Amino acid sequence: MTTAESASDPLPRTTATSFHGARRNSAILVTGAAGEVGHGLIQSLAAAGRRDVVAIDVRKPDRSLRDVCQETYVGDICDGSLLTRLLAMYEITEIYHLAALLSTRAEFTPETAHEVNVGGTLNLLRLAAEQARSHGQRVKFIFPSSIAAYGLPDLATKDAAGVVTEDQHLRPVTMYGCNKLYCEHLGRYYARHYRRLAQDRIPDAVDFRCLRYPGLISADTVPSGGTSDFAPEMIHAAAAGRPYACFVRPNTRIPFMTMPDAIDATLQLAAADGRKLSRLVYNVSGFSASAGAIADLVKGFFPGAAIAFEPDEQRQSIVDSWPADVDDSAARRDWSFEPQYTLQSAFEEYLVPTIRARYAG
Ligand code: SER
Repeated sequence: MTTAESASDPLPRTTATSFHGARRNSAILVTGAAGEVGHGLIQSLAAAGRRDVVAIDVRKPDRSLRDVCQETYVGDICDGSLLTRLLAMYEITEIYHLAALLSTRAEFTPETAHEVNVGGTLNLLRLAAEQARSHGQRVKFIFPSSIAAYGLPDLATKDAAGVVTEDQHLRPVTMYGCNKLYCEHLGRYYARHYRRLAQDRIPDAVDFRCLRYPGLISADTVPSGGTSDFAPEMIHAAAAGRPYACFVRPNTRIPFMTMPDAIDATLQLAAADGRKLSRLVYNVSGFSASAGAIADLVKGFFPGAAIAFEPDEQRQSIVDSWPADVDDSAARRDWSFEPQYTLQSAFEEYLVPTIRARYAG
């Protein structure tokens, strides 16, 4: 069988350690490795002693990542031949599929976003299924979805809805949100129904686990291309001594979470006892806060901060379609999710000290 054929045909089961006669290294695959979440996640995996990470990103991962990974690849998750090579080279047991085009960027090139966000995810789900077939063990597939999967039609509905559960108001208004919601369904399909009529199907090949991130705030990096970016942008601008024009109104409220809490939650869900998981998709959140409350805190810590509110109607309408808060009780119950930071402690103990040090030099 040629490598190209193996991409399109289901693979025959091989032994746990051999493929085409050669031994494959065991690996955890992380896509979007050079992104905000990828960076921290790989460092946490390394700190936990995992040296078998294979990382992919369209950008070259920096030195600090290369040093702690088994291997890094510059490549596109839409490139089937790259994934086929990975299948041949590694015995992948876990996939953290983080690569995506975020909600603002996706609105400029929706079809490209669809290719990356859906096409790329489909490639990786298929890689997971083929990996399971080749080594005979379930492959964990950890997928971050987003509050963008929600879509509340207007502000009155958002106000009335308050805290929303995983199954309410799922009518996203962005390409990114549609992509994430659909990929949640694809994950469910691969986990429970993949090739259901095929005689040689392997049931339960993919152990799909998904968490819906709220807006994420990192002290180390500034996001690009998202619509929840106003919060991290505001904080980083103040620390760097730059004025900031916030693109949403002060009373705009969505859930947020610090990057360390998002990474811990992701690793916790991956490590959770599968028998305790009552769902495939879990909300997680650190705190719900308005843009105005965040601006007030920023000004408290950085008294010289110049923050103006200049709402952009279109980006505002996207954030208005996201819930003010999410119910993450299922995550708390099933896998003991418990974020470390509240809004206040996130500023006091994580954001301000780290960001101050970052911009001090
Ligand atoms: N942070 C994402 C975005 O703004 C939402 O999950 O697109």
